[in-house]
Amino acid sequence: MTTDTKLNGRTALVSGGSKGLGFAVAEALARHGADVAILARDEAGLKNAESQLASVGEGSVLTVSADVTDDNAVAEALRQVTDWRGRLDIVVNAAHRGLQSAPLSDTDPAVIDDVLEGKLVGYARMIKAALPLIETGGTGRIINIAGVTATSLVPGTGTAAIANAGVIALTSYFAAEAAPKGILVNGISPGMTLTQGWLDRHEGMAKAQGKTADEVRAGMVAGLGIGLGRWAKPEEVASAAVFLASDMASYVSGQVLRVDGGLGKNVF
Ligand SMILES: NC(=O)c1ccc[n+]([C@@H]2O[C@H](COP(=O)([O-])OP(=O)(O)OC[C@H]3O[C@@H](n4cnc5c(N)ncnc54)[C@H](OP(=O)(O)O)[C@@H]3O)[C@@H](O)[C@H]2O)c1
Repeated sequence: MTTDTKLNGRTALVSGGSKGLGFAVAEALARHGADVAILARDEAGLKNAESQLASVGEGSVLTVSADVTDDNAVAEALRQVTDWRGRLDIVVNAAHRGLQSAPLSDTDPAVIDDVLEGKLVGYARMIKAALPLIETGGTGRIINIAGVTATSLVPGTGTAAIANAGVIALTSYFAAEAAPKGILVNGISPGMTLTQGWLDRHEGMAKAQGKTADEVRAGMVAGLGIGLGRWAKPEEVASAAVFLASDMASYVSGQVLRVDGGLGKNVF
């Protein structure tokens, strides 16, 4: 039995890898030895992330500017990655449009459509294009970042929840279709994670509510019943991605691992 999470010699592509959870996953995969390509639209954001990743791990880093809502851009991005190292082992889907914070009943259907296109359909587009290119010798992995809003009620996140529920279903179906090739498709459903997006949102909420950002965070921990009593650090979610990408997860297929600190279970 292997106890090894080393990823040396493997090539990973992380969509949304310039920021937030995607960046944390890219950093963790690099730290475990993978060559990591990060994909996002904004070149400046990619270059900034690349400079932070430069000193991490033994592998190298590639930046790929592409929009996951565009078939041709995704195909071209995959071509760049496979040309780079001559192989593609791991694809992590984390790109999304950003959180639309509003009750679902106040949300324009066009916004829902846009969020689905930017996350759920973007993930499906990436997987469909990547599957024929991913290594079939046992190192092939696809990891989809969903979100606990799919199954736990978090006020104001209904639009994201619909996309996340779709990501869970998509993970099951692609896993079943890819399993005969030996490619493992799994997901991670993060809970409340302290990415820059949420840190900024907390500042705004704090001003609006006449509280400190720490008080806002603590209020959400209490309101959502997070058993561990705190928000996640992005690297705590990224660790799950390292596990799923590694030989340690060689018999895990079609699963979505909740990394949520026990959200919704704090009844004691
Ligand atoms: N943060 C949390 O607490 C949390 C909790 C549960 C689930 N999640 C999920 O985790 C994933 C990452 O979330 P995050 O909050 O960490 O993200 P984030 O900080 O908002 O970063 C989003 C990333 O996606 C890229 N992106 C956005 N639209 C894109 C497009 N059309 N094509 C290519 N790249 C695009 C962005 O770069 P550009 O703008 O330059 O393209 C950026 O790199 C998402 O799927 C989110 O739903 C997050």
